[in-house]
Amino acid sequence: MPILETERLYLRPFRIKDAEHLYLMNTDPEVIKYTGDAPFKDVLEAQVFVQNYISTVYHNPDTTSETGLGRLTIVRKSDEAFIGWCGLKYNPEGREVDLGYRLYKKHWRQGYASESAQACITYAFETLKLPYIIARTHFDNIASQTLLDNQGFSYIKTITHHDMPTRLYHLKNDAYQLKEISAKETWPVRHPVLRKGRPLEDVYMEADEQSSTFHLGMFYNGTIIGVASFMDDSHPDFTGSQYRLRGMAVLPEYRRKGIAELILKRGEMLLKEKGKTLLWFNARVVALQFYKNLGYTIDGTQFDIPKVGPHYRMKKQLV
Ligand SMILES: CC(C)(COP(=O)(O)OP(=O)(O)OC[C@H]1O[C@@H](n2cnc3c(N)ncnc32)[C@H](O)[C@@H]1OP(=O)(O)O)[C@@H](O)C(=O)NCCC(=O)NCCS
Repeated sequence: MPILETERLYLRPFRIKDAEHLYLMNTDPEVIKYTGDAPFKDVLEAQVFVQNYISTVYHNPDTTSETGLGRLTIVRKSDEAFIGWCGLKYNPEGREVDLGYRLYKKHWRQGYASESAQACITYAFETLKLPYIIARTHFDNIASQTLLDNQGFSYIKTITHHDMPTRLYHLKNDAYQLKEISAKETWPVRHPVLRKGRPLEDVYMEADEQSSTFHLGMFYNGTIIGVASFMDDSHPDFTGSQYRLRGMAVLPEYRRKGIAELILKRGEMLLKEKGKTLLWFNARVVALQFYKNLGYTIDGTQFDIPKVGPHYRMKKQLV
């Protein structure tokens, strides 16, 4: 887990001894007014929370490797005072990373939350290379909304979160750019990921150059890191106005950041604009869960594609 440094602060992972402050901070009704959290029963409950947080949020429970994500304790450099917490959290339900913060009331209105948030945003975008982060605030929490506005977040919509009216915000990482590209531009990703160890000519797909085909590429600071191709190809088992997805790939060091999801969703949107009603493809077994989470379903039984491996046919009704 990181230790972040700002002009006046350190942000470091929770320690068990922070439990007392976490307990005390949450006993202030004004601090938890908009959070939907109940106060801890006692310091012991806060200690159990911290212990659990370290083992399940900071560390991937399956592998014990660090996730790089999780809230951090804000400590003032000058006197080691506990100011509060700030940090990033991965939400598996929405498959997105949010920014959150909470400070002792005595430390409000001194710029500490903004300074901490800024450090977490830089860490999210430059170190973790996340394509975007979100934030949620209670509808009436004006101070928090001002902070997010000042950090460049865009208001998206009002939702219900923890049974409360909540404003949802979004901040894009400007290092990323998603755009339509030519077939040839997909090769620096298609070849090492999907045709590894095979001759470069093997990257070519029959419908690559057809005028109805479109290719999407995700760039990080101008370098292509993720691709997908969408082709006018109807499967005899399906009905409706169909397209086929091919060549979905993300370079290994950019995976598990939501890049493929962004590419696929842009493709789905463009297909809907073209009046297409169904997207289908042959999915590698390793990618099944990724597609299932995005609403795709398996059609039929497993089959083998020579030189590539076992696959399932998958589809999604777009409208
Ligand atoms: C399949 C593939 C395209 C997915 O690319 P990706 O950019 O890693 O995809 P995403 O980040 O959108 O989602 C992948 C997983 O990361 C998770 N994830 C997304 N953002 C995350 C984050 N910030 N932190 C942790 N996990 C995150 C998603 O929930 C998803 O989990 P799941 O697989 O359990 O559903 C990529 O692994 C790849 O190129 N594989 C090799 C080629 C291949 O198999 N292509 C498909 C051919 S059919």
